[in-house]
Amino acid sequence: MSDKVLALKDYGVLQLLFNRPEKKNAFDRETYLALIAALDAARSDDAVRAVVFAGAGGDFTAGNDLADFRDFLERPGDFPALAFVKTLAAFEKPMIAAVAGDAVGVGTTMLFHCDLVYASPDARLRMPFIDLGLVPEAGASLLVPQRMGMARASQYLLLGDGFSGAEAHALGLVNALAPSESVLEMAMAAAEKLAAKPPAALMASRRLMRGDPADILARIDAEAALFAKALASPTTRQRLAAFFARPK
Ligand code: COA
Repeated sequence: MSDKVLALKDYGVLQLLFNRPEKKNAFDRETYLALIAALDAARSDDAVRAVVFAGAGGDFTAGNDLADFRDFLERPGDFPALAFVKTLAAFEKPMIAAVAGDAVGVGTTMLFHCDLVYASPDARLRMPFIDLGLVPEAGASLLVPQRMGMARASQYLLLGDGFSGAEAHALGLVNALAPSESVLEMAMAAAEKLAAKPPAALMASRRLMRGDPADILARIDAEAALFAKALASPTTRQRLAAFFARPK
């Protein structure tokens, strides 16, 4: 396991802590590969009955590493971001998120795959794909309108407005709010409750509630085809260059 993701397994709960606080826990290739490996192992590990995602250092994650996006053309090959979001969509055990600070891009879209989400009221959620010349990923083009309605989806995906943890709670994306220092504790308490339940009944119920993941997986592939093309576009390359040239 990379030190960019810390894994802790106890009481039937696998806690995966994004651990790159100096980069706001942005997911680079190494982070994605570590997360995929941890989830793959958890799938067949009877000692794991629920997974909790959280970020170290006060932020959830600033999303995909923009340097990896920038280098994508120069360093072609497989893109583990895609495998990660597909792993999430197909994962059958309950997933819980503890969100504080920044949750940008996949930091917000991955929450739509989680069963329970806890957040600090001042958490900052944002899906700025279009401002980068990109399109939504992780099935967000399907899941955000489904879960929030088209008006909100247009506001958060097309306008790219950010929203707070408190607003996400009011919108039904977040189950409960807690101060940032207590969010993980709240998420762990819920995960331990889930982990104590009959696992087969839990997984079957979850699947009934969510339906066959095939539709979401197909949408993720459709998004990915457009996303890859967009990454090579002059607009996206300019926007990425502007991020790295921003005044500090
Ligand atoms: N990819 C790579 N590095 C990132 C990053 C990302 N997504 N987000 C933040 N970082 C890095 C910054 O470059 C900076 O590194 P440096 O100190 O070596 O320059 C460090 O993390 C801290 O970020 P900074 O921008 O100084 O913090 P901030 O509090 O002013 O702003 C954000 C936080 C999240 C609002 C801002 O960093 C941001 O907008 N990041 C990009 C988010 C994004 O677009 N994600 C992808 C969506 S598809």
